[in-house]
Amino acid sequence: MSVAELLTGDVRENANRAGNMMRSKFYVCPICGNVVHAMGEGSFSCCGVQLMPQEAEDADEDDAHRVRVERIENDWYLTLDHPMTKQHYLSFAAYVTSDTVSLKKLYPEQSPEVRFPMRGSGLLYVFCKQHGLFRLKTPRIQRTR
Ligand SMILES: [Fe+2]
Repeated sequence: MSVAELLTGDVRENANRAGNMMRSKFYVCPICGNVVHAMGEGSFSCCGVQLMPQEAEDADEDDAHRVRVERIENDWYLTLDHPMTKQHYLSFAAYVTSDTVSLKKLYPEQSPEVRFPMRGSGLLYVFCKQHGLFRLKTPRIQRTR
């Protein structure tokens, strides 16, 4: 049991012992912006704050955070129409499959686009500093032979 759990009386049992990465959780520190990836729920703290797992919203149902995904060569190419100002920006993107996770840090003043080397079907995430986490499935892969 962690000190944070002792202090809050809130004990996290990790139900995800099989460890399917598709059930990954992301924890974001509201103070410093640190990002913690976990294969399931756990007890994490940063800057003295107990972090809660980010609940992902469906990116397709939110016009401001809709993610376009194209295949370019062997990459997934993600683009959004989203501000990238210091007050309001996408601070990271992630690509999770059943056995891997890729995390890409984004910064203000960059363009809101990310490329991930394709590793099969999985989940794509973008995190907006103001609006939280958004998720979508990777598009169906067209096999060309
Ligand atoms: Fe946003």
